[in-house]
Amino acid sequence: MTEIPSIELHNGVKIPQLGLGVYKVEKGAETYQTVSSALEAGYRHIDTASFYDNEKEVGEAIKDSGIRREDLFVTTKVWNDEQGYKATLEAFERSLHKLQLNYVDLYLIHWPVPGFQETWKALEKLYKEGRVRAIGVSNFMQRHLETLLENASIIPMVNQVEFHPELYLSELLHYCNDKQIQLQAWSPLARGSYLDHETLASIGNKYGKTPAQVILRWDIQHGIVTIPKSTHKDRQIENKRIFDFELTQEDMERINRMNKNNRVGSDPNKLY
Ligand SMILES: NC(=O)c1ccc[n+]([C@@H]2O[C@H](COP(=O)([O-])OP(=O)(O)OC[C@H]3O[C@@H](n4cnc5c(N)ncnc54)[C@H](OP(=O)(O)O)[C@@H]3O)[C@@H](O)[C@H]2O)c1
Repeated sequence: MTEIPSIELHNGVKIPQLGLGVYKVEKGAETYQTVSSALEAGYRHIDTASFYDNEKEVGEAIKDSGIRREDLFVTTKVWNDEQGYKATLEAFERSLHKLQLNYVDLYLIHWPVPGFQETWKALEKLYKEGRVRAIGVSNFMQRHLETLLENASIIPMVNQVEFHPELYLSELLHYCNDKQIQLQAWSPLARGSYLDHETLASIGNKYGKTPAQVILRWDIQHGIVTIPKSTHKDRQIENKRIFDFELTQEDMERINRMNKNNRVGSDPNKLY
């Protein structure tokens, strides 16, 4: 089984470059089975959120896997209506309890909503107390990051944003790299909406890889952490078989040129 490589965050914590996302995986048996099968397939990084309402089953699958806690990387997020200093600290305790963990590896502000600076102070406190190994944000565009950095005492380790070939946020990637903020791609497969794209198919044919594998490899070569979701074990395995080939610079550029600023999720620019 090929091991998934890790990237070092700016505080030295290592994050596996490929993880399993569990958004819209139903709470109950579906989440338990999805996480269990991914862990069996060799995934060690799980991305959940209080909003997904499946932290409990993520925690159960982790516990029953028997995998050592230090070998796992678990991310969760504070939802919009839980933001603010005190409310975030309370939300964190709820998440931890549901996950049956005594720390999380990465805690993120899910979306930039008014007052996110106060939320960030709560994340800094949790980090300083050792309750979380890393803290970060999600759906922060450059201007949100600039506002956050005005008063932050800790630079976010991660920014998780929608990112895929038709939404190639090269300027944001460049800005985050410059600040040592690790970019993470959500909906890396654009929820499967253009996996039949001819550029992806023709590049895939060259390497004997599927369009999904081509996209995920493109993330890896951009130095991004990627978290595709699949409830199917065969696809979880397929999505993980991306560390045995390398796209040429020319193919990377062909994929870069697919950009259309096309989103499958909400636009953070319209939220706040
Ligand atoms: N921070 C945020 O605001 C935010 C927002 C959205 C998502 N996320 C995170 O990012 C994760 C991934 O994003 P996402 O779930 O929206 O979408 P995604 O990973 O881009 O796509 C998932 C869809 O693609 C299908 N799929 C997966 N692998 C495939 C393959 N190899 N071939 C064909 N189809 C495949 C899945 O179907 P099956 O499951 O049926 O296989 C599912 O319908 C989420 O689960 C969540 O953890 C974060």
